[in-house]
Amino acid sequence: MKFFLDTANLEELKKGAAWGVVDGVTTNPSLLAKEGVTPHEQIHRITEIVDGPISAEVVATDFEGMLREGRENAAIHRNIVVKCPLTRAGIQACSKLSQEGIRVNVTLCFSPGQAILAAKAGAWCVSPFIGRLDDLGLEGIQVIRDICRIYANYGFKTQVLAASLRSPLHVVQAAEAGAHIGTMPFKVLDQLFNHPLTDKGLDQFLKDYSKAFQEAPAGR
Ligand code: E4P
Repeated sequence: MKFFLDTANLEELKKGAAWGVVDGVTTNPSLLAKEGVTPHEQIHRITEIVDGPISAEVVATDFEGMLREGRENAAIHRNIVVKCPLTRAGIQACSKLSQEGIRVNVTLCFSPGQAILAAKAGAWCVSPFIGRLDDLGLEGIQVIRDICRIYANYGFKTQVLAASLRSPLHVVQAAEAGAHIGTMPFKVLDQLFNHPLTDKGLDQFLKDYSKAFQEAPAGR
């Protein structure tokens, strides 16, 4: 499973990238709006930090506008994946951009039926939003399971990018369901490291070592 960071914040991206476990980035208009730099410039800066697929979303809602913005975004850097919403115009734009060789992430997917549309339009990946379905009292992860099964049934090449992951449990459940990619906020990536037995075990190892050799290990 590939790990993407769901953020447009450069400090978070630098920290995550330094751990060597970040394969790509997803942004959205809300995340970019928090950063106080023009979206184009911020996306460009992100390409200098993470060498992997970076999703940049169109904000036009009509087909022609999406095509124009999609082509502009794709021209920023070879790693850009154009994000289009799962609307009629978005699916049409996905189909056209994909035919032009531009990778498209179809976002705001909430059902298996919508995911089939994205695959048929040639999307590079589809982004079902787990947390937002959970917010409605539904079981978001079930949508990931259903989409993975349907895509496997037909050999669709579109990757399933589990989005709106709000906890380490969401990440694990998405991996169990077979999602190709999970995108998560920096906080969730950070939380994945945590286990009290790791801390306790390390503490004991270091105490035992120090006691036996009467000195602290190098660098501590
Ligand atoms: C994915 O590409 C979206 O940016 C993101 O996962 C949405 O997450 P949220 O529902 O927590 O805002």
